[in-house]
Amino acid sequence: MGMSYNFSMSYEGKAKIMKDGPSEGTMIMYFKDDVTAGNGKKKAVIEGKGKINKAITLKLLKLVEENAIPTHLIEDIDDRSILVKKLKIFPLEVVVRNKATGSIVRRLGLEKGLEFERPLFEIFYKNDDLHDPLICQEHAFMLELIYPDDLLIVRNRALRANEILKEYFTSIGFDLIDIKFEFGVDEEENIYLADEISPDTMRLWAKGTTESFDKDVFREDKADLLSTYLEVAKRMGLKIEGF
Ligand code: C5P
Repeated sequence: MGMSYNFSMSYEGKAKIMKDGPSEGTMIMYFKDDVTAGNGKKKAVIEGKGKINKAITLKLLKLVEENAIPTHLIEDIDDRSILVKKLKIFPLEVVVRNKATGSIVRRLGLEKGLEFERPLFEIFYKNDDLHDPLICQEHAFMLELIYPDDLLIVRNRALRANEILKEYFTSIGFDLIDIKFEFGVDEEENIYLADEISPDTMRLWAKGTTESFDKDVFREDKADLLSTYLEVAKRMGLKIEGF
């Protein structure tokens, strides 16, 4: 099969910049203050957001790594950057859902807040032109986005990472509703959890309520993004310089 996983190149995304790192096989992940929603239709620059998401991501990557899930994290650099492994990123957004909200509510007509008996695993094809469509596993194999064996590993690790993070957020007063992960492989085809883990990429509700502490406050104009993210950081015991 002509599978070709490509190494990520220096790249400016909507919320981050990826640059080549100081040594072979490394990259710098820089967190910008930009926030976007609806595939870039809604945009803002929120001063300090990059620092907050960097601090949250660093702590959460360490937490999952400590629980035996390999991540791309190498080390902290500064208040907006971390050093990570250079990987070939699967062009997939892997979503795990504990409760129904967002796209699954629109797509399947479920009641918002419905709790799934078992966390639900979904894959979306990372493709801006197609608006990141939900796909099934057969599509991923046909499009040669990932090998079947690799998808099995990704699924297990995503479900395990969800468990670890759900338990952690419960302990600080939040329900983890859903979360998006990205995975990639190094030269030796070892699989790592990649990307950021922040309120931009997951949904958190205050325990036992539907009050959002994540990007939904921006998507739906419900509350101030900066103070919402700062509250998450504060409950995580993080001190963000300048705030
Ligand atoms: O929109 P949807 O309900 O499918 O989102 C599921 C989860 O994935 C949410 O936590 C959302 O923040 C995250 N997500 C993301 N990046 C996207 C789409 C969704 O981080 N492009």
